[in-house]
Amino acid sequence: MNATPTKGLGRLFQLAPALVGSCAAARKAGLAGSALEVLRAARLDTHVIEETRRIMSDLPDGVVEKFAAYYKDRDPSNRKVKSKYYNLPVHVAHAVWQAKQLGLYRVDKKLTIVDLGTGFGYFPLACDSIGHKAAGLDWDRWKVYDSISGDIPIDRSEWIVTPDEPMPDMGVSVDLVTAFRPVFYYEFDCDSLWGEEKWRRFFSALVRHLSPDGRVYIGENRISQGQKPALEAMRALFREVGAEPHQNGWLFATEALARLSGTSQAHGMLDGNVMVDESSRRS
Ligand SMILES: C[S@@+](CC[C@H](N)C(=O)[O-])C[C@H]1O[C@@H](n2cnc3c(N)ncnc32)[C@H](O)[C@@H]1O
Repeated sequence: MNATPTKGLGRLFQLAPALVGSCAAARKAGLAGSALEVLRAARLDTHVIEETRRIMSDLPDGVVEKFAAYYKDRDPSNRKVKSKYYNLPVHVAHAVWQAKQLGLYRVDKKLTIVDLGTGFGYFPLACDSIGHKAAGLDWDRWKVYDSISGDIPIDRSEWIVTPDEPMPDMGVSVDLVTAFRPVFYYEFDCDSLWGEEKWRRFFSALVRHLSPDGRVYIGENRISQGQKPALEAMRALFREVGAEPHQNGWLFATEALARLSGTSQAHGMLDGNVMVDESSRRS
């Protein structure tokens, strides 16, 4: 879908200022200075940069200027809304790159995608722009996303991800579930992460929403040092079931999902080759 071949660094340096400079208000707000950040977020990929520019130009009128103004007036002491999320070109470029890494520009089929803990919803925005149908779920605990409602035109709903109810019934089976920099598996009360039992419940519930060849991406998000042993245990579990390291997290395809969920839900994988031996499970 519209892939533009990379033509080297010269082309990149032509594109980056054009991307940011195409928005006069963004330039006034100092966003022109983020051209290098955009390049970094786009991993020096001209296609990602061009897609970023296309997505930004399709946003409702005034959104780029509004975000640039928020970003310019950012208040680092405001812990509720991280003003860095208003750095629109950088986040859109990053979301496009994430979509590309997941192969979403290569598939001909229109995919149904659900992004857990979506935040501002940059990833669903990138997916929709390619022609997929994405929805973002987030626990808008502090009601901070009301201020950007409609600015990022995605299908977003409020939802608290839990081990037993990771997502609502979307009315259709879902091809891809993503969670970038997720917080939902962090347990604030004990400064730790979900253990194996909660992950198994989570995946058992999640696979019921997936299509037979559905995939799940779960990012890592180290929030504090206290979780280090739990993070290592989580990685060991994911490795053990056959999840693939992907971006800053883990990609679960059919077999890994069957192993971790312990069900054959839609996958037909409940045979001796795939199920994890109970005795090999850690407590
Ligand atoms: C670090 S942000 C990541 C946002 C976005 N995915 C990104 O990569 O930019 C984590 C998001 O998870 C949301 N969140 C935290 N706990 C959640 C839960 N239990 N269910 C759903 N969303 C949750 C927060 O509201 C926040 O928007």
